[in-house]
Amino acid sequence: MAKKRTPTPDDEDNRLIGRGAADDEQQIELSLRPQYLREYIGQKKVKDNLRIFIKAALARGESLDHVLLNGPPGLGKTTLSQIVAREMAAKIHVTAGPVIEKPGDLAAMLTNLEEGDVLFIDEIHRLHPAIEEILYPAMEDFELDLIIGQGPSARSVKLDLPRFTLIGATTRAGLITAPLRGRFGINFHLDFYPIEDLQIIVLRSADILGVEIDDAGANAIARRSRGTPRIVNRLLRRVRDFAEVEYEGKITVEVAEDALNRMEVDRFGLDEVDRKMLTTIIEKFGGGPVGVSTISAAIQEEKDAIEEIYEPYLIQIGFINRTPRGRVVMPAAYQHLGINLPGAPNQLSDQPGLF
Ligand SMILES: Nc1ncnc2c1ncn2[C@@H]1O[C@H](COP(=O)(O)OP(=O)(O)O)[C@@H](O)[C@H]1O
Ligand SMILES: [Mg+2]
Repeated sequence: MAKKRTPTPDDEDNRLIGRGAADDEQQIELSLRPQYLREYIGQKKVKDNLRIFIKAALARGESLDHVLLNGPPGLGKTTLSQIVAREMAAKIHVTAGPVIEKPGDLAAMLTNLEEGDVLFIDEIHRLHPAIEEILYPAMEDFELDLIIGQGPSARSVKLDLPRFTLIGATTRAGLITAPLRGRFGINFHLDFYPIEDLQIIVLRSADILGVEIDDAGANAIARRSRGTPRIVNRLLRRVRDFAEVEYEGKITVEVAEDALNRMEVDRFGLDEVDRKMLTTIIEKFGGGPVGVSTISAAIQEEKDAIEEIYEPYLIQIGFINRTPRGRVVMPAAYQHLGINLPGAPNQLSDQPGLF
């Protein structure tokens, strides 16, 4: 039997708002993952365009153009890449930027591809530059340039590759180099999901998991899921635990709110790290502007985690602003935290605090 990993307090994947899925969570995530475009909730613009591109490529009997998917973690990039492969009836090969260590690793993957296959590279912004360069002729001309031998006797050999589709996913579009970006014919940005869409996802997931829930209960979970399907599914499962142990099993709005409050997920879906980040900027740095590295040191969270996981949503809901001189906490966040704006009269003192 596989040994179960012991979670530690700072084990990011065990938090409600983690980068990825924890071990035991992956299996459930798989069962909840939409298989076809018609099951993929929301992101209408992306789906509509993708449907046309897939249809056109299929009609011409060609492979789909290379696709770049960018957006914060948990919004459905991996899901979408698998859907594209399935809709194209293509075989998918999965890898990730940090996993490809040597140019030879990528060369081996490329030469293993067959006509029409999909190569999915997750976290493509983390590809090593020397490896990235191999991708340029592969993507553009379906050619692999190999250097054989060393020193004066080294020579370059060109190999033809089958026509394949590269799907790259990234949480950091800004870190993708221009030459790489330019070689993707299709470039989609996934946005945070509106509450209506998240509510549909909760209901769909509850149905798959066999959980009894009403619309108001689903709405309450959706509201606190920071626009993110992965979090919506995670909260649903935790709320289900409360419903089964302390209530009759059905998730109503009362059950959902009680459970979420007790997990300290507040009205905006913020968790303790978000709140710590906001209060630290306010209390230690006068509300900002302050650089991410300084914030990272002050709250002892990785800089990458702040930029990839926490900050995008706080910016989206208008709690933080990114300026050239650093991050600034916005008035809406003061109000939410029940902290008076500096220099403002005490008009906020009777505001409700958290939750
Ligand atoms: N549009 C969607 N509709 C329904 N469920 C979704 C959607 N997007 C994501 N999910 C759910 O969220 C989970 C995380 O999505 P994933 O594709 O792994 O995100 P990413 O790769 O962007 O981090 C999936 O397992 C899936 O169940
Ligand atoms: Mg992913």
